[in-house]
Amino acid sequence: MNIRDNLAVQEVNQSLNLAPLWLPFTPNRQFKAAPRIIAGAKDMHYQTSDGDTLLDGIAGLWCVNAGHCREPIVKAIQKQAATMDYSTAFNMSHPAEFQAAEMVTKLAPAGMDHAFFTNSGSEAVDTALKIALGYHRAKGEPRHRLIGRERGYHGVGFGGMSVGGMTPNRKVFSPALVPGVDHLPHTHNLEKNAFSKGQPEWGAHLADDIERIAALHDASNIAAVIVEPVAGSTGVLVPPKGYLQRLRELCDKHGLLLIFDEVITGFGRTGSAFASHTFGVTPDMITFAKGVSNGAAPLGGVLVKKEIYEAFMTGPSEQIEFFHGYTYSGHPLATAAAVATMDLYDEEALFDRGKELAPYFEEAMHSLKGMPHVIDIRNFGLMGGIELEPVAGHPTRRAYECFLKCYEKGVLVRSAGETIALTPPLIATRQHVDQIVGTLSDALKAMA
Ligand SMILES: Cc1ncc(COP(=O)(O)O)c(C=O)c1O
Repeated sequence: MNIRDNLAVQEVNQSLNLAPLWLPFTPNRQFKAAPRIIAGAKDMHYQTSDGDTLLDGIAGLWCVNAGHCREPIVKAIQKQAATMDYSTAFNMSHPAEFQAAEMVTKLAPAGMDHAFFTNSGSEAVDTALKIALGYHRAKGEPRHRLIGRERGYHGVGFGGMSVGGMTPNRKVFSPALVPGVDHLPHTHNLEKNAFSKGQPEWGAHLADDIERIAALHDASNIAAVIVEPVAGSTGVLVPPKGYLQRLRELCDKHGLLLIFDEVITGFGRTGSAFASHTFGVTPDMITFAKGVSNGAAPLGGVLVKKEIYEAFMTGPSEQIEFFHGYTYSGHPLATAAAVATMDLYDEEALFDRGKELAPYFEEAMHSLKGMPHVIDIRNFGLMGGIELEPVAGHPTRRAYECFLKCYEKGVLVRSAGETIALTPPLIATRQHVDQIVGTLSDALKAMA
């Protein structure tokens, strides 16, 4: 399909009133002065409303793992919308919701056989934190403290913001953050680990900070530890070798639940269904979103181990076990999209395809070493980060300028703080990787 067929692209731009919209995580005034509007998408490409073609180097926003507007997913959404648009979420359900739960639990590590649906990653995180508190209470232990990590991103709900460790996201809301949260140190260290390929050697000991926090508060007060297996939004921070294993050991030692936030690492990004498989570490809960429905409809959720689900299933059977949920939990269109997406991942063996491309992607990324402003390159699976020397007194400006330059040259990358993040769809070819990296190289040279 040629995406131009359906679009009178110039008309889109001319007819739009930009003023009423308040855009998320965007410098609104600057954007409205020179808007970037996407009017169409197919497979690896976008079409802008100016009629330009843009190669998608970031799978939408770490979510379009199977590529854009894939026919089986489009058809599944269309069919569901025409058959049954919405059914009451509480005390009722519908077939796609059960099918999606069965499929996602089959993809999960063994023993994680229950899924609770939300609409986003932020909601998934807040749901997981609430499950952690509810679980301990159900077991007769009112553990209420939480441990997150510096430079973690867990969405924008009050729970996720509180366990997260991104200063700009927390600063304004600081008085209202959830109490009882400690943070592990982040694992980023340029002196020790710059230009590591895959997992860095140094840093597993940073997980031992759990011991300090457990000693400070007494472990019996701590409910859970939440981390991203690979931190994405703060610039692709790959876990040091042995770090995640150490977290698991210490959580077991102190009776803490371990939550992996796999909102971006799930569904093939690291070469298997979840990063938990790739790293060989099984948490107690996994939060997911994005790739579960290929970004085609909003869906997120929490996978939990059997014993967590069962801890809630006590008391009189006519009573609600968990006072939590959303009007759109397991929405028909979103779960229909998820079923079609997970089928497509399987039919096209897309997790394997991403894994096969990863070594080529790694070499291509690291070929940028020595380019102007580049102070680190990091990669894992089909996730890559290129950290740039900040402009003195203007944090994030350099990476943002690089993003704009790449956009002008027809490639979409993401600026995350001082880092350019790359997360191409799993259908990317070597030629796509060459184009992305070649464009970045040109952009960096132009910024010298
Ligand atoms: C690890 C992680 N958790 C949670 C979220 C929040 O997801 P959402 O934007 O769907 O609320 C994100 C978003 O990028 C994420 O990367």
